Amino acid sequence: MSQEIAVVVLAAGEGTRMRSSLPKVLHRLAGLPLVGHVLSSGRALGVSRTVVVIGPAMDEVAAEVAPATTVVQKERLGTAHALLQARKALEGFTGTVLVLYGDTPLISVPTLEALVRERAAPDNPALVALGFDADDPTGYGRHVVGDNGCLADIIEHRDATPAQRAIRRCNSGVMAFDGAVLFDILDRIGNDNVRGEYYLTDAVRIANAMGRICRAVEGPEEEFLGVNSRVELARAETLFQDRMRRKALEDGATLVAPETVFFSWDTCLGRDVTVHPFVTFGPGVCVEDNATIRSFCHLEGARIAAGAEIGPYARLRPGAEIGPNARVGNFVEIKKSTLEEGAKVNHLSYIGDARVGAGANIGAGTITCNYDGFGKYHTDIGRGTFVGSNSALVAPVRIGDGAMIGAGSTITRDVPGGALALTRASQETLDGWATGFRERRSGNGPRR
Ligand code: UD1
Ligand code: MG
Repeated sequence: MSQEIAVVVLAAGEGTRMRSSLPKVLHRLAGLPLVGHVLSSGRALGVSRTVVVIGPAMDEVAAEVAPATTVVQKERLGTAHALLQARKALEGFTGTVLVLYGDTPLISVPTLEALVRERAAPDNPALVALGFDADDPTGYGRHVVGDNGCLADIIEHRDATPAQRAIRRCNSGVMAFDGAVLFDILDRIGNDNVRGEYYLTDAVRIANAMGRICRAVEGPEEEFLGVNSRVELARAETLFQDRMRRKALEDGATLVAPETVFFSWDTCLGRDVTVHPFVTFGPGVCVEDNATIRSFCHLEGARIAAGAEIGPYARLRPGAEIGPNARVGNFVEIKKSTLEEGAKVNHLSYIGDARVGAGANIGAGTITCNYDGFGKYHTDIGRGTFVGSNSALVAPVRIGDGAMIGAGSTITRDVPGGALALTRASQETLDGWATGFRERRSGNGPRR
């Protein structure tokens, strides 16, 4: 099957029921805006043109979908009217035009592939519609199949007779058209219906009247969940997370309690990675083979190399590069820093804008002081360095290979390799002082 495919995403709906100042299709599912999910399915099909139909004052959506072409539907007169706005953008295009909705993010690539494959059938159907059997078909358009097994019509719920409402096969809204006749068909669609809207679904009746074949293929109902409210957004998130968890398990990761792990749309896990309960992945995380993520970690924009161990209770922020077999322990935050192979930051530390050389050991409570209220500065910690507990490394500063920092130091100047640096006051010890103090306070000794 070789056919050129263009995608038109309908996204002019206001999304009033979201009760939000953000356009509906910019609400995020697993970290990616709804419309981004739709576009990524299109990309997976290898589309050659992408057009997004937006409403007035939706510049943020246009910016999000760039470099896709956006066209503005000034008045929301129905799905056929929305698609008509893509006429200029699709000028001269005679391949398959796939119509998707910006608020329907769960459609899988295999389902779309089945749809466009059917569109490329030898008898060249004018359109193929995706349908599904709904548990509750109320509100959906219904597929009316003719005696020849082809699609005869799609009737919107509100225009349907009781007999038509008894049909369970519903219209998902996703359709693939023959681009050579699409606009001929759209030009003939009127708005003589209950809502006075230009229904894209009327394309079926018109194409049939033109002597062209229309077909339907079927997909799983859960892929067609449209997001109109926060409740539906939460439901879509649940379904999407289940999908991600299943994929992680199938690809060879162990999730000790899958239902407690939350992925980003782009999380990648290698083989034999173990993720303990209650871990959240933000966007841009890649975990290589045999790494372990313990409970209660929050990871975002981080790369974790093979064999590394993270957590429990660690926070990795964007730009954290954790090297092979490195360790990041409890209550450690790492931002825009590289831990080289085998480096350890095991307890209660902040490492930001830093390099921690291979095999270095960063003691409990160490802080890289990377910010002076104006700029961010780098800390460079050499290979095999030992930083004593509760040290403050005031950037910009360099600690040479193999150096040692005494516990409790505040390091403001570079430390050469192999040196010991410490800044604490020297210790004074008064023999018996504590015992004497207690005796005095409890009245057993002489009062002074
Ligand atoms: C549509 C279908 C219906 C199907 C249902 C599935 C039509 C006439 N009906 O109905 O058969 O069962 O989806 O959910 O197509 N949009 C625009 N501009 C408009 C109107 C809509 O961009 O003028 C966009 C919306 O933002 C949305 C999509 O098109 O993403 C569908 O619109 P919606 O109003 O939800 O259509 P339904 O009435 O649900
Ligand atoms: Mg709808």
